[in-house]
Amino acid sequence: MRINIAIDGPSAAGKSSVSDMLAEKLGYTHLDTGGMYRSVAYLAYKHDVETDDEDKVVSLILNNRFEFKSDGQVLLNGEDISEAIRKEEISMAASNVSKNPKVREALVAMQQNIAKDKGYILDGRDIGTVVLKDAEVKIYLTASAEDRALRRYEQNKAKGMEADYEKILKEIKIRDHQDMNRSFSPLKKADDAYEIDSSKLTIEEVVAKIMDIVAKKI
Ligand code: DC
Repeated sequence: MRINIAIDGPSAAGKSSVSDMLAEKLGYTHLDTGGMYRSVAYLAYKHDVETDDEDKVVSLILNNRFEFKSDGQVLLNGEDISEAIRKEEISMAASNVSKNPKVREALVAMQQNIAKDKGYILDGRDIGTVVLKDAEVKIYLTASAEDRALRRYEQNKAKGMEADYEKILKEIKIRDHQDMNRSFSPLKKADDAYEIDSSKLTIEEVVAKIMDIVAKKI
């Protein structure tokens, strides 16, 4: 039996790495919904459209072609933007653009359509509460802001990207606040989600915990 798995939580809690590993173990497809909001933010930035100009942003979404590949690659009108959307300035712009209800509506519809045949792992902020309310397994993955900042700092350093711990920590706290307090679909744990604190766990340990939960369902 193929199921859908929803993984929500704040930024840098390990959602992407955990989802990738789970997808590999289960032979499922991982969809990084944060990458979708990042792509829209990147598109708005390229066209000089303000992130809160809802109608213009939606029109950009409708008039451009996105491809979200199962290996995490993102193409915009055929151009590979996978690296560009990971830049720190796009993180905040993605959080800003995600506040708009019409933008969320457009992306949620795409996400639900992609996951309709089951066998998907979606990670984001509103997967268990809005996008896949009926997901068979829901996980709320969290960790302290300090642990998450350290993780992001080390990832950036390893990739040769800008790495300033204090700046990353500040940005994580601002984005947490914004994502948890917006009016539409704020980040929150679904009532039926299992909460896992990844602060003191390796990715493998988190994945093992989720595999136990999945095994009971299938
Ligand atoms: O997961 P991420 O850090 O790449 O996501 C970037 C931003 O996109 C995040 O700050 C909030 C928004 N987002 C959202 O509102 N809903 C989702 N399902 C995924 C991301």
